[in-house]
Amino acid sequence: MDTEVKIINEEAQGNSILIESPILQNGRKLYIESYGCQMNFSDSEIVASVMAKHGYATTTDQHEADVVLLNTCSIRDKAEQTVRSRLRDFKKKKKEKPNLVIGVLGCMAERLKTQLLDEEKLVDIVAGPDSYRDLPRLVSEVDGGQKAVNVLLSREETYAEISPVRLNSNGITAFISIMRGCDNMCAFCVVPFTRGRERSRNPKSIVKEAQELVAQGYKEVTLLGQNVDSYRWNINNKGEIKDVSKPTTNFSQLMEMVALVSPDLRIRFSTSHPKDMTDDVLHIIAKYENICNYIHLPVQSGSTEVLKRMNRGYTREWYLDRIKAIREIIPGCAISTDIIAGFCGETEKDHNETLSLMEEVQYDYAFNFFYSERPKTLAERKFEDDVTLEVKKRRLAEIIAIQRKSAGKINETTLGKTYKVLVEGFSKKSKEHLFGRNSQNTAIVFPKENYKLGEYVNVKVNNCTTATLLGTALNLT
Ligand code: 5AD
Ligand code: SF4
Repeated sequence: MDTEVKIINEEAQGNSILIESPILQNGRKLYIESYGCQMNFSDSEIVASVMAKHGYATTTDQHEADVVLLNTCSIRDKAEQTVRSRLRDFKKKKKEKPNLVIGVLGCMAERLKTQLLDEEKLVDIVAGPDSYRDLPRLVSEVDGGQKAVNVLLSREETYAEISPVRLNSNGITAFISIMRGCDNMCAFCVVPFTRGRERSRNPKSIVKEAQELVAQGYKEVTLLGQNVDSYRWNINNKGEIKDVSKPTTNFSQLMEMVALVSPDLRIRFSTSHPKDMTDDVLHIIAKYENICNYIHLPVQSGSTEVLKRMNRGYTREWYLDRIKAIREIIPGCAISTDIIAGFCGETEKDHNETLSLMEEVQYDYAFNFFYSERPKTLAERKFEDDVTLEVKKRRLAEIIAIQRKSAGKINETTLGKTYKVLVEGFSKKSKEHLFGRNSQNTAIVFPKENYKLGEYVNVKVNNCTTATLLGTALNLT
């Protein structure tokens, strides 16, 4: 599962993206807001592409939009509340502009289906994650005075040949979706219900997308999937070859194929699953300089008992063995995690095991949440949500405190070291400073001098704040 990021275009000023295609624009403008994980952001780029083929220009200014699409997240109740509040804003807009078409896409659309039409009376379109090719038709149904719904999930759809329109792009980093759906059924997680069965995308189309990005000057791609370690092409879930006359591809082979596209293209990937992450993958990361030394490996809990109830498919010991393998095979690799505080039945002892695991691993980053019961999940059906909100919050605060300590310690070890940084943009605080990331995914800010966006620069770290390293450029790499 992916780390939650929130990508909204609110602040941007009236930019319509020019679509380089022979298709005539229809004069209507599309505005998309994305919530939740990186996969949603990536999906919005597919949506923009599908709509562009039907003449819609994408705008970053909501005020000039004729069609507004919210790509939504259901992972926790809070994520849904945020979207509901945003929908209320757009309802008001629709009163001023009655022809405005409002659609809900993604996980909330899939989870709530027509309920969204009844509850949020001014929503016109409800489209699940596998129905984006159908969006132009859904919009025309709305133009004809209907409400339009498509929440069919597919076993095949990967949008493989659709070339995404890059939204809010810095022209340097991009997402490539390599698979969709999830078959893991973690007890707390709504994703298998909202995004359907796991399916992998044709490796040729993935490599082609990476090549196209390189040709356009991009310098970094993040390969996305709910569980990238179970990527498989031409192999079924029992490990049998589907078509013996054709080659098979697993995740480590796919990474190698993408790494070979260009030595100047950095590769990231998310999310790894501890039960499926093989040493093969780690050796490929170690072998290629352009595959970043950063692994997001969500543990969720440090207690084997809780992991079992969560249906995660590994024990505390197994997880720690995977960490050991990372440390041995890729020295200096950064590791991050997701942790859930207060899952059903979690005792103080279980919680302390999470804290002690964190002390042992010393994560570079951690994305921490308290448990939020989700409808239809295994946990909702089988277990009682019996840890009080007060206890969940206290445990979460303890987890955050430990994480602050390890991040601080790790930051200190970077002082005086030099890192290869890919420059992604300007520092938020000053146009005289550039911002980039090292292989370990840590943000580094340094004085601009004559360096430019998209360049790889050696930066020596001389100071740090909680989340950012500060340094001075030495030279281009
Ligand atoms: N409650 C709290 N956190 C959750 N996550 C997934 N489902 C829930 C839930 N019901 C967290 C997991 C996952 C991350 C993306 O969100 O830690 O890895
Ligand atoms: Fe990630 Fe588990 Fe949810 Fe799948 S079911 S998306 S592996 S947390």
